[in-house]
Amino acid sequence: MYFSKLLLGFFSLFVSTPTHAGDFSYNEPSTAWANLPAGSSIPVERVRLSFSPDEVLQMQDSLKHARHSYLNSGDRDQNDWISRASDSWSEITVPNLETDLNRHPQFNASLAVDGQSSNIHFMALFSQEPAAIPIVLLHGWPGNVAEFSDLFDIFRSRYSPADCPFHLIVPSLPGYTFSSGNPILDRADLVRVTRTIDRFLADIGLDNGYIAHGGDIGSYIARMLGSYSSNCKGGLFPDGTCSLRDC
Ligand SMILES: *[C@@H]1O[C@H](CO)[C@@H](O)[C@H](O)[C@H]1NC(C)=O
Repeated sequence: MYFSKLLLGFFSLFVSTPTHAGDFSYNEPSTAWANLPAGSSIPVERVRLSFSPDEVLQMQDSLKHARHSYLNSGDRDQNDWISRASDSWSEITVPNLETDLNRHPQFNASLAVDGQSSNIHFMALFSQEPAAIPIVLLHGWPGNVAEFSDLFDIFRSRYSPADCPFHLIVPSLPGYTFSSGNPILDRADLVRVTRTIDRFLADIGLDNGYIAHGGDIGSYIARMLGSYSSNCKGGLFPDGTCSLRDC
């Protein structure tokens, strides 16, 4: 399985419509959720994601000119999806896209796997509860961390950073959006991606066990984390091809 760098620009803009920015009242400001657990052994920087007006225009243009499948092909869902996406994107501006994505803490970690340096972008809510259990949530293809923004809203409305029983960590998979990809001639197969995610979690200080959940291609990675890493203590794989089982 190869993750093409070519997808990067396209999917970096494939985010949910920003309906929640500004109309959701949180119990805590986002910075209170941004304290990494002690023990990170790699540089991790809090970042603010930004986009250029050109990127947004390009996305609007691509969707406007997207080829629909024939109506009588039975693939109505795809046509409807493209129309809805195109309508939603026509209203998106750089400021509301940035506000929407940055409403939850975003980070950039530098790490080396098998001697190769890379960076992993991730969105996270960190609890200050010492016994909090880390849950890594893995997005699908096509997909990105914004798949989990609404879930983060729910956690932030129910818990405070002082008492949340979980840490939620959503990495951009290697080669997607803001995470660097493997060199184009190198294999970026599931084993490599799994090793990178597992190393990333240990390196940011979550080396005492975590739970993995994934949808679509993320479910394969969650399943492989369970098989490959003794640090992965359990998993949920609701879609993709994996059945529900403990890792
Ligand atoms: C993350 O860090 C790398 C360098 O290590 C940099 O090239 C990249 O732009 C950074 N990404 C973000 C989203 O800040």
